[in-house]
Amino acid sequence: MCKKLAFIDEIVDILDLLYFHGWDERNGGNLSYLLDEKETSEVSSLEVKKTIETTFNMHEIVGKYFVVTGTGKYFKNCKKDPTHNLGIIKIINDYSYGIVWGLIDSKPTSELPTHLKCHIERLKVDPKHKLVIHCHTTNIICMSHILELNEDKWTEILWKMQTESIVVFPEGIGVLEWILCGGDLIGDATAKKMANYRAVVWAQHGLFATGTSLDETFGLIETIEKAAEIYMKICDKKIVQSISNENLLEIAQAFHINFKHGIID
Ligand code: 13P
Ligand code: ZN
Repeated sequence: MCKKLAFIDEIVDILDLLYFHGWDERNGGNLSYLLDEKETSEVSSLEVKKTIETTFNMHEIVGKYFVVTGTGKYFKNCKKDPTHNLGIIKIINDYSYGIVWGLIDSKPTSELPTHLKCHIERLKVDPKHKLVIHCHTTNIICMSHILELNEDKWTEILWKMQTESIVVFPEGIGVLEWILCGGDLIGDATAKKMANYRAVVWAQHGLFATGTSLDETFGLIETIEKAAEIYMKICDKKIVQSISNENLLEIAQAFHINFKHGIID
């Protein structure tokens, strides 16, 4: 059945790419994808097979369907066996959701509270919002070991590592201190940041990124992680020349970019 669901094929392709970049070792990382009406209509049965209660309120997304990866599941296995490694859930009411497809002998990611809270928050700022991807991006984790957790500082550094950064994430990047993963606390803290950012760093853990499509969200992760990689390669070297505030302002003006103010201006 999964073969007929084009969106599942596209999702597992991205999960593969994330795995092969080395950002989702073992069961590291998770994904949730909001289905639109057309995609939902392609699923042969939307009958709820199992109901699960939550500790958090999902009022704003009741009735919506999401593809979610399973807890403990490996991204590298999703393509060859989607129905055991991911599935589709329906938000039934404020405090319960149901599994309608896949997730055979499994249940959704332990980071579901953060995913759903981020969907709720991002939908408030962008009605086209669709995706939340969590991954263990190596260089972002490296940076969080050596740099103070000041998000304006992080934004300035990442913007100045390569010309494209300010174009791809003009709003900057959110940064959270280490918080126990898998619960409501980190979910609330992440979702709060998502009011202003599409990407939030979890110190010593990884990244949460959001977007309107698989390409856009994956592209955001790639660009942020590449900037972090450049930083980690040069941070202990003598810098001879770099991108200046004036250069960034020039880019912003040329490409009509509405960037976060108060950092380079
Ligand atoms: P899950 O296997 O529950 O998705 O958890 C992986 C992870 O990255 C936790 O932060
Ligand atoms: Zn994680």
